Amino acid sequence: MTKPKFALVGAGVIGKHHRLVAGQLADRLDLVAVADLDLSRAAALSGRAYPSLTELLRKEDVDVVVVCVPTGHHGAVAIEALRAGKHVIVEKPAETTVARTDEIIAAQRAAGTLVTVISQHRFDPSTETVLAAIERGDLGRITSGIASVDWWRGQSYYDSGDWRGTWELDGGGALMNQGVHTVDLLVAALGRPVEVFAWTGTLAHERIEVEDVAAGVVRFASGSLGVLHASTAASPGLSARLQVHGDRGSAVIDNDQLVFLETSSEERLMGTTRSRSVASDPAQLSDSHRLQYLNFLDALDGKAPVRVTLETNRQSIAVITGAYESARTGKPVTLS
Ligand SMILES: NC(=O)c1ccc[n+]([C@@H]2O[C@H](COP(=O)([O-])OP(=O)(O)OC[C@H]3O[C@@H](n4cnc5c(N)ncnc54)[C@H](O)[C@@H]3O)[C@@H](O)[C@H]2O)c1
Repeated sequence: MTKPKFALVGAGVIGKHHRLVAGQLADRLDLVAVADLDLSRAAALSGRAYPSLTELLRKEDVDVVVVCVPTGHHGAVAIEALRAGKHVIVEKPAETTVARTDEIIAAQRAAGTLVTVISQHRFDPSTETVLAAIERGDLGRITSGIASVDWWRGQSYYDSGDWRGTWELDGGGALMNQGVHTVDLLVAALGRPVEVFAWTGTLAHERIEVEDVAAGVVRFASGSLGVLHASTAASPGLSARLQVHGDRGSAVIDNDQLVFLETSSEERLMGTTRSRSVASDPAQLSDSHRLQYLNFLDALDGKAPVRVTLETNRQSIAVITGAYESARTGKPVTLS
C-alpha cells in the first residue's frame, strides 16, 4: 500500500506519542486527521480535527485508524473503524475483558482487515534477543518466569482522568494498566497460560475501584510456572522486570534492558546501570512504538505477518482478568 492514510482517535497522553511516531515515519505514512471528544486536544495535534471518529470518517478518506482512547472505549471505536473497512492499531490492552476483546476479533474477521494491539516492549532489542534464545532452545526447557512491575503512581495520576482506576474503563489497576506489558512478555516467553491464582489489594491510593498491588502465580501448558507482581504502590518506583529461567540458562530484562543472559551457547552479560521506572510521560517512551508501526506497515504491504494480534493480546487479558476473578473468589481460575 503506497503511503497509507492514518487517523488518530484520542489525543491524550499516548495519542501525543503516536503523533510523534507518525511524524518520524512520514516517509511511510500520512497522518491526515485526529479525533478527540475534546476538540482542542485533537486540534493541538492536527489541522484536521474532529470531535469523534464518526465525524472524521464522514469527511476523511483513511486506511488505518489508531485507537488511543481509554481502554473501555477501545472496542466501540475499533469496531466502528472495522465496520467502515479500516485497518486498526489499538493501544494496549485491547479491551477490559476477554468477552469485549472477542467482539473486536469478530468485527475484524467480518472486515477482513489487519489489526495490531500495541505491546511495544515485544519489539525492544532485549526482548527480541531473549525470545530468539528461547526459540533456539538455548535456555533449555523453560521452567519458570517472573513478571514484576514495582512502580509508583501518585494519587494525582489516578485523579488526572475520570476513567483511571475504574473497572469499566481502566479494566483493572496495577496489573491491567501498568502490568500488562510485562505479563505479555511472560506469556511470549513461557507460552500458553492455563491457570492463575492471585491476591490483590488497594493499599496506597484513594478513590479508585481497582487494585494498586497484585501478586499471583500462573501455570503454563508446558508445565512451567510464572510469578506475577504488579504495583503502583512501590515508592519511589523501581523497575519493570522479566526473569525467564530454563534448565540450561536464564535471562533477565530490567527496564527494557537485557541485564543478564546466560545460555548454553552465549557468554554471561551483566548490566552495570539501572535506570528509574519509565513513567507515562511520552517523552520518556522508548523507540519501540515506531518499531511496532514498522511491522504493521510491512504487514499492510504483505511483507510480514502482524506480530501482535488481537488473539495474542487476548491471552494476557485472560491471565489478568483471571487473576482478578481468583482474587475475588479466593480460588484458582482455569483459563480457556
Ligand atoms: N503503550 C503504552 O505504553 C501506553 C501508555 C499510556 C497509555 N496507554 C493506553 O492508551 C490508552 C489511552 O491512555 P491515555 O493515558 O492516553 O489516556 P488520556 O486520558 O490521556 O487520553 C485519552 C483521550 O481520549 C479521548 N477520548 C475518550 N473517549 C473518546 C472517544 N470515544 N472518541 C474520541 N476521543 C475520546 C479523551 O478526551 C482523551 O483526550 C489506554 O488504553 C492506555 O492503556 C498505553
